[in-house]
Amino acid sequence: KETKLWGGRFEDSVTDIVEKFTESISFDKQLYKHDIMGSKAHASMLAEQGLISFSDRDSILKGLDEIERRIEAGEFVWRTDREDVHMNIEAALTDLVGEPAKKLHTARSRNDQVLTDFRLWCRDAIDRIISSIRHLQVALVKLALNNEGLIIPGYTHLQRAQPVLLQHLLLAYVEQLDRDAGRLLDCRARLNFCPLGACALAGTGLPIDRFMTSEALGFTAPMRNSIDAVSDRDFVLEFLSANSIIAVHLSRIGEEWVLWASEEFGFITPSDSVSTGSSIMPQKKNPDPMELVRGKSGRVIGDLVTLLTLCKGLPLAYNRDLQEDKEPTFDSVKTITGMLEVSAEFAQNITFNYKRIQKALPAGYLDATTLADYLGIPFRTSHDIVGRSVALCVSKNCQLQDLSLEDMRNLSPVFDNDVYEFLGVENAVKKFSSYGSTGFACVADQLDDWAAKLEINKS
Ligand code: ARG
Repeated sequence: KETKLWGGRFEDSVTDIVEKFTESISFDKQLYKHDIMGSKAHASMLAEQGLISFSDRDSILKGLDEIERRIEAGEFVWRTDREDVHMNIEAALTDLVGEPAKKLHTARSRNDQVLTDFRLWCRDAIDRIISSIRHLQVALVKLALNNEGLIIPGYTHLQRAQPVLLQHLLLAYVEQLDRDAGRLLDCRARLNFCPLGACALAGTGLPIDRFMTSEALGFTAPMRNSIDAVSDRDFVLEFLSANSIIAVHLSRIGEEWVLWASEEFGFITPSDSVSTGSSIMPQKKNPDPMELVRGKSGRVIGDLVTLLTLCKGLPLAYNRDLQEDKEPTFDSVKTITGMLEVSAEFAQNITFNYKRIQKALPAGYLDATTLADYLGIPFRTSHDIVGRSVALCVSKNCQLQDLSLEDMRNLSPVFDNDVYEFLGVENAVKKFSSYGSTGFACVADQLDDWAAKLEINKS
């Protein structure tokens, strides 16, 4: 067996069971690119500071390039006995370039190294997720653009409430996704500080330049407190919280589309390309992708809870428990990315069933609130009058616009001929005019703003 990089004080090697239990290479190899970036910046700084020679630096940089090439070509052998990504790469570098590689870990610990890698990895992951969010926003805005003027029932308590433009509802999701991206950007700005040089926990007496490595790696600045730098994981907690909120938003879209695709609603028809069948019921066509979006939101929330529980109760500074921070993070990122991608795919593959929706619209007295506004008398009084008008409709099995003026006047003398301009869903939508409302003009403004912001060509 090869002696461990840390093996100096040990007489016996670890048992196979311990080795298998404590390794992280099976998952942290995902950090290889960032580990190599960090090592390059560190080696360059060590040379500039006179801690290693420039020729050692050059051997290290060349060796790391070769290792990266081998990893990407699938030629690199990841070894469990070398524990994690950091020691795998360092040991392979030593195999490759010999003595100079042994100087790379000067003024560095795996504790600051792993966090440098992890922060860089999360930074890239955030950028990828934000671009998936934009992609879904674009899909939703295009869906809105393609369905101009379509009025659907708006719901509260899943009961018919007021008529709304479909575009308005779709843009509600676009707004939510925008805040989701904003949360990720906030998190990105807060995590973009460099732990490298914090070493094990206390820093070092060697003349390193932490500002140099921080800048080389695109961080805003080095982290100010070395103990904080190696112990905290609040940046991932924040990241996974933001992902959880996205997951909850997507789950709600999922639920809505699953409902809309049901026979009972029948508002949308997903195309075959985003549907799946049943192994026993020949007639079935199910919206599985959106059901899984709803379902996978549980994983993303679970990943956050795993990490919160992991960090709770740990004394400062580094504890090996913290190695468990990576799998939930990788899982959260992979899951949320898939959820965003499939939601965009689904949005591009549904059609709205205009006939079915128009047939459904008259039911539910969606224009009742507009009628109450029409009366222009104290609202509680008009609420009561319209309530009684609805009761009359229920007894006559008709809609508000079917009541005669005489029927209405019996309930209130304020009703006049122009009342019919307020009745029916189309008229009701026309009457909305407040900022942010579902009125035609307001929605058109919203849509213009989004199309411009997302650089969508409206023609
Ligand atoms: N694989 C470890 C982790 O992810 C790296 C840090 C190990 N540090 C240590 N002192 N054992 O946390």
